[in-house]
Amino acid sequence: MQSTTQHPQLQATEIPARSPQFVQIYRANAAALRQELTHGLLQAQAHCSPKFLYDALGSRLFEAITELPEYYPTRTEAAIFAEHGQAMARVVPPAGTLIDLGAGNCNKAAALFGRFEPARYVAVDISVDFLRNALECLQRQHPALEMWGLGVDFSAGLELPPSIAQQAEGGPRLLFYPGSSIGNFTPEQALAFLRSVHGACSPVAGSGLLIGVDLVKDTATLEAAYDDALGVTAAFNLNLLLHLNGLLQADFRLEDWRHLARYDTDLNRIEMHLQARRSLTVHWQDENGAPRERRFMAGQSLHTENSYKWTVDGFGTLLQQAGFGQVQHWTDAEHRFAVFWAHAS
Ligand code: AVJ
Repeated sequence: MQSTTQHPQLQATEIPARSPQFVQIYRANAAALRQELTHGLLQAQAHCSPKFLYDALGSRLFEAITELPEYYPTRTEAAIFAEHGQAMARVVPPAGTLIDLGAGNCNKAAALFGRFEPARYVAVDISVDFLRNALECLQRQHPALEMWGLGVDFSAGLELPPSIAQQAEGGPRLLFYPGSSIGNFTPEQALAFLRSVHGACSPVAGSGLLIGVDLVKDTATLEAAYDDALGVTAAFNLNLLLHLNGLLQADFRLEDWRHLARYDTDLNRIEMHLQARRSLTVHWQDENGAPRERRFMAGQSLHTENSYKWTVDGFGTLLQQAGFGQVQHWTDAEHRFAVFWAHAS
């Protein structure tokens, strides 16, 4: 009989190294993106989904935004987790599976591993390619944790593929949606999305959602956060035109456009626009390669993002309407941002 005690120095290497599993559900093809963009560009108020802000450069510019003095959400949320993490861990049941929605570089979720000690980590993002490096690196630091990278566009609703849903039967699911990304949805869309998240929680007792939400506040603070003095947010917004030039063979010229960020106090949302500095015509190719054009008069704009702000009461009501039971929240001293825990039942 072979005994491992003969070679104790080899024991560590006998444990097979875990590696993350990757699943890509669906990725919109180039034609579908061109069709979507053409439709939005031809509306009376031209618009385009904020997802087009995040090409390779756009994602890096967003990371830079999170470090700006004016952009308080990221650091305020981090401070709430640092200050109230222990209290959160007392009410959030021990998670079998931590499901990270819009995981990106996986840093925010990785910071929770120590406190919530999940057995399994499922990082969800629009493309598995964004997740590969981060997850492989994280797996080396947490060799015992089972890791999945799931590439899926969950903006229209979250549905876990069977391979992951079955794996998750083991224990409660902790859905994690930080950063106030929920702010990109209109209240109607947010309700529908939260209902689908509730659906992904409900098969397993003890499951729930931990979500970061930016709060309603004075217009000056909000507008500065989305129009910083260094011009990083302007670059982030304008970079969308470079992305569109590549996707559509369009001829947007950056010098013709100005970054605008305005807070609408009736709708409780920041609107980002790119405003034409002069009258101009943009040309591009649609999904069939056919030439298209749109005239913009000076002052007309392309609407690129909504970022909704919520009150604590308003968001608590929304969670209840979506089917969640017990709801609790933690906030910072200035009530700029809140982290909600919503128990699924
Ligand atoms: C990633 C959607 C949460 O709305 O604050 C930051 C994106 N846009 N600056 C936000 C964003 C301009 C951000 N979210």
